[in-house]
Amino acid sequence: MTGTRTITIANRGGAVFEVAARRPLLETLREQGVDLPYGCKCGGCITCAAKLVEGRVDQRRQTALNNRQLSHGYVLLCVARPETDLTLEIGVESHDKLYRNPFLDPLEPHELKADIATPKEA
Ligand code: FES
Repeated sequence: MTGTRTITIANRGGAVFEVAARRPLLETLREQGVDLPYGCKCGGCITCAAKLVEGRVDQRRQTALNNRQLSHGYVLLCVARPETDLTLEIGVESHDKLYRNPFLDPLEPHELKADIATPKEA
């Protein structure tokens, strides 16, 4: 069906859910009993982050993830809508690459959010 997507949760035994393509994943998965952490519900706090293993989401409304986190596949489920069928890892155990110590391992300029990153010298 065109209005639904199949979501596989890799770290919950491969559990499969059918969700509406146009609604945020946090809502549609929680309605089906998936226990997910969340805070602000508006893409600003990272509490709901999950790791996208396969597929594509529209998360244009997210404001919290930097380029390093995006490159590791993180998506914010409270604003992410599934553009394709997806495989996700959810919950805090998916957060292994979400945070890092900024004093021990500072971000490189290209890993900052696009609007504050300094373009690389050619
Ligand atoms: S709940 Fe805050 S970013 Fe999703």
